[in-house]
Amino acid sequence: MIVSNFAVIEGCDGSGTTTQLKQLKKNFSLQNISKNTGFFVTGEPTRGPLGLMIRKILMGKISVQKETLARLFAADRGEHLYAPGGIIERCGRNELVVSDRYTPSSLVYQGLDCGRELPETLNAAFPHPELLIYLDLDTGIVMERIAKRKEKREIYEYMEFQAKVREAYLELLPIYEQAGVRVICLDGSGTPEELAIEIWSKVMEMPIMEKVKKNR
Ligand code: TYD
Repeated sequence: MIVSNFAVIEGCDGSGTTTQLKQLKKNFSLQNISKNTGFFVTGEPTRGPLGLMIRKILMGKISVQKETLARLFAADRGEHLYAPGGIIERCGRNELVVSDRYTPSSLVYQGLDCGRELPETLNAAFPHPELLIYLDLDTGIVMERIAKRKEKREIYEYMEFQAKVREAYLELLPIYEQAGVRVICLDGSGTPEELAIEIWSKVMEMPIMEKVKKNR
């Protein structure tokens, strides 16, 4: 199933998904679009109790079996989708929802960590987004960006793993496309400003934005 009005942004660590989501939120406010439609910028792991626990695991503060982490990501996603005020409710009332990461992250990261079967099973019943934007970045640049950060590295932020992450994304994208998702692959090596313009134009092509453009 595809959820209309739902877009996700994906990429390796350091590919800029979080920066781009912040920029997108700013653009929506600047363009005054919220007057005509609700929009909700969100992300996974969420800021809910399960998401916060996942962040502690990613930072190495708590240690669990990798399969447990895969299950936690799926449980957090279930809340993100179906809890009151969640993705399904918002998209259903014609709000635009854009998420920093979703099922592709689990299929890629947990697929590499614990084999494809478990994340595929855990995520099989979750609906697809209407639009999937993937920020593609050379693994060398990913590692340079991670090295420049002040925070301690998370468990997946190592060269060998990130190279496999990129490969796994490139293999996975056609599967989403075959399922009817509009998949856009953007070069993540440009400046954040350049990338923000491209992302903005793709989001503006979503059918929900047609109504907004007409009402402005
Ligand atoms: P994120 O907050 O996007 O990290 P960053 O801002 O450093 O890119 O995501 C945190 C990490 O969680 C990232 O390494 C990807 C990983 N992740 C998974 O392994 N599985 C998932 O299902 C999701 C949503 C994220």
